[in-house]
Amino acid sequence: TMPALLSALCGYLSGSIPFGLILTRMAGLGDVRKIGSGNIGATNVLRTGNKKLAAATLLLDALKGTVPAALALHFLGVEAGVVAGLAAFLGHLFPVWLGFKGGKGIATYIGVLLGLAPWVVLVFAAAWLGTAKITRYSSLSALVATLIVPIVLAFVAPAPVAWLFAAMSLITWAKHHANIRRLMAGTESRIGQKG
Ligand code: G3P
Repeated sequence: TMPALLSALCGYLSGSIPFGLILTRMAGLGDVRKIGSGNIGATNVLRTGNKKLAAATLLLDALKGTVPAALALHFLGVEAGVVAGLAAFLGHLFPVWLGFKGGKGIATYIGVLLGLAPWVVLVFAAAWLGTAKITRYSSLSALVATLIVPIVLAFVAPAPVAWLFAAMSLITWAKHHANIRRLMAGTESRIGQKG
C-alpha cells in the first residue's frame, strides 16, 4: 500500500493547486470567487473577460490531473493510476488551502482522462462541444460529457478506470447542484456571460 499512499498524496497535492484563483490574482483581477458563479474554474475565469486566462486555467487544472495519474499508471500500474487520478480530482474539489472549498472538477476530470484513457478525451470533447454549440451552457455540456464518458469506458477501459470515472461523474454532478437548479429554472448563464 506504500505506492497507493504515495499516489494518493502526490495526486491530492497536485490537484489541490487552485490555478484559477492564482492566475486571476496574479493578473490583478481580484478574487474569482467573488464574481459570476463564485467557482474557481475556467468557466468562471472566462467571466472576468480574459479568454487567455480562462484557457490557461483549463490547461493547468487539467494537467494537474494528467501528470500524477499518468506517472502512477506508468510506474506503478493501473490501480495506482486510478488512486492518483481520484486524489487529484478530490484535491481540486476539496483543497485544504481553501478550507476544502474548491471547484467542480471538470478540467481535472478531462486531465485524468487524458492520463488514463487518452482516446476517450475525444468522446468527452465531442459531447462537450456538441452540447455547448447547441445550448451555450458550460455546466450542461459538462453534465452531458460526464454522463457519456463512463458508459464508453465500460466498453473500452479496464474496470477500475471505468469505475473511477463513474464515481467522479457522480461527485461532479453533486457539485453542480446549483447549476442544475439554475438550468431547470432557466436562469443559468451562457458561456462567456458575466451573470
Ligand atoms: O466546469 C464547471 C462548469 O461546468 C460550470 O462552471 O462557473 O458556470 O459554475 P460555473
